[in-house]
Amino acid sequence: KPSAAPFVPHEHTLPVIQAALPTCRGCDLYEHAIQVVPGRGPVTADLVLVGEQPGDQEDKRGEPFVGPAGGVLRKALAEAGVDPDAVYMTNAVKHFKFVQRGKLRLHQNPRMSEITACKPWLMAELDALKPKLVVALGASAAKSLLGGTFALMRDRGKLMQANFAEQVMATIHPSAVLRGRDDAAREQLYRHLRDDLMLARQYLG
Ligand code: URA
Ligand code: SF4
Repeated sequence: KPSAAPFVPHEHTLPVIQAALPTCRGCDLYEHAIQVVPGRGPVTADLVLVGEQPGDQEDKRGEPFVGPAGGVLRKALAEAGVDPDAVYMTNAVKHFKFVQRGKLRLHQNPRMSEITACKPWLMAELDALKPKLVVALGASAAKSLLGGTFALMRDRGKLMQANFAEQVMATIHPSAVLRGRDDAAREQLYRHLRDDLMLARQYLG
């Protein structure tokens, strides 16, 4: 079975994890992406946000949430009263998965096997960070952290016990906001994301 485990160092500090990430061949996704995209943020962060995987911009720049979804996320964080620079942002899957269509690289959802393969990196990061709260952004991160049967639209915005943090919560992915079918749908998805982040901020005090 594909797994990042053989590539993850035993010492779980952010610099050691970052240095080892480019060696990962834990699943096939490293083959076509430009580079691995590590998490980013202060080691003191008590809030960790977990996205799905890097997008086109993130793959080019090597940083998480620097494209359109990152713009939505930063706006929602600001409106929720959370300083984006105080948060650690990472992804459930560390390489961009896409299909080439002419010049465009179209995002593809990772398979459960790829999410599972990459999970040892995420667990190593959480072990280094020991955050108070982890927020899973969207279904892929929720599958990684909460299991394959988690029902996002039913159970979003609920604080739950976890063994990798004091609490865990799942919410809407900022890309889902952008993909909403019309203005009203996008507005409602955005409100869910912002309100859940507001609850996160209240929990953190
Ligand atoms: N979407 C994600 O899930 N993660 C990123 O880093 C960017 C977009
Ligand atoms: Fe390794 Fe994750 Fe990249 Fe797969 S997606 S090669 S498990 S870092």
